[in-house]
Amino acid sequence: MKLFLLCSVLAVGAMADLWYVKNPTKKDSVCAMVESKPKLSIQQGNTSFTLDIVNATVTGTCFGVVPVNDLHHANTMTVAFFPDGQFENATDDTWKLTLYFIKGENQYQLYNWTLEVHPTSKYNVSGLYQRALNSTTYSAAVLHAITCHSLPLNFEDGVQVVLGEARAVAFEDFSAPVWPKDLENDVCPADKPDKPDKPEKPKTSAVVPIIVGCFLVGLVVSVFVAYLIGRHRNRTRGYASV
Ligand SMILES: *[C@@H]1O[C@H](CO)[C@@H](O)[C@H](O)[C@H]1NC(C)=O
Ligand SMILES: *[C@@H]1O[C@H](CO)[C@@H](O)[C@H](O)[C@H]1NC(C)=O
Ligand SMILES: *[C@@H]1O[C@H](CO)[C@@H](O)[C@H](O)[C@H]1NC(C)=O
Ligand SMILES: *[C@@H]1O[C@H](CO)[C@@H](O)[C@H](O)[C@H]1NC(C)=O
Ligand SMILES: *[C@@H]1O[C@H](CO)[C@@H](O)[C@H](O)[C@H]1NC(C)=O
Ligand SMILES: *[C@@H]1O[C@H](CO)[C@@H](O)[C@H](O)[C@H]1NC(C)=O
Repeated sequence: MKLFLLCSVLAVGAMADLWYVKNPTKKDSVCAMVESKPKLSIQQGNTSFTLDIVNATVTGTCFGVVPVNDLHHANTMTVAFFPDGQFENATDDTWKLTLYFIKGENQYQLYNWTLEVHPTSKYNVSGLYQRALNSTTYSAAVLHAITCHSLPLNFEDGVQVVLGEARAVAFEDFSAPVWPKDLENDVCPADKPDKPDKPEKPKTSAVVPIIVGCFLVGLVVSVFVAYLIGRHRNRTRGYASV
């Protein structure tokens, strides 16, 4: 079943978005990077919709400071976008999702997020939403990536952004917005029961075996179906079956 789901996902093949923040004080350095299939959903009274976040423009800072139990070094990432990828009217305000990462001694955390939305003729919403205080946060060891099959960011008032097939990192020094092959992944707690104690390999290295697996499963199924059809025909023609 799981393999079937994976095969279907590959067949649909939606492209993931890559968001990153450059370090302005250093040539060719990226401090924070998020890759995902991001979706925003809002359920409020009569308003209810889900849309993909596409065509975003990303800004941020590698040297932020935020007041959390005293002062913390922060990386922030602001993702500006229009609903459905493009403004309806040149005067529309951009919507903004901001992610805040903070760093401790051995680990870092995606600990806060805000969302700013503005009304358009299609979406009658407006406001600045804060992180829902009961929502979970995400952490990883320093220099590891946070990797989640589904990474929900919950806001107040029934607003949610889900980063699907997400991989995120902050406080890094990548020379380009490209995932290093040897980057270690810390898997989300929600994904762990499936894969006890096995650190997940980077996604790219899983793609080839999955495709080969899908192909082999397809082959086995078609051979089996051919066999059944053949057997059925032989039977109906009255040959002795083997
Ligand atoms: C929701 O829609 C119904 C009917 O369309 C309307 O009577 C009601 O006032 C609306 N509620 C709000 C909060 O806009
Ligand atoms: C992204 O923006 C460009 C130009 O701003 C536009 O032509 C394109 O349709 C947009 N893509 C999506 C998916 O909306
Ligand atoms: C675009 O926005 C302006 C100012 O808000 C408004 O007057 C105009 O009607 C809008 N045009 C469309 C096509 O929505
Ligand atoms: C999250 O960030 C917003 C905007 O900076 C701030 O108002 C809010 O207090 C922060 N939430 C937490 C839990 O730190
Ligand atoms: C947008 O929603 C507000 C309430 O949230 C309502 O008062 C207003 O009439 C709505 N505007 C449109 C154009 O539906
Ligand atoms: C968080 O609170 C909201 C409403 O206040 C509730 O609907 C939701 O289930 C809560 N989530 C968790 C994980 O407790």
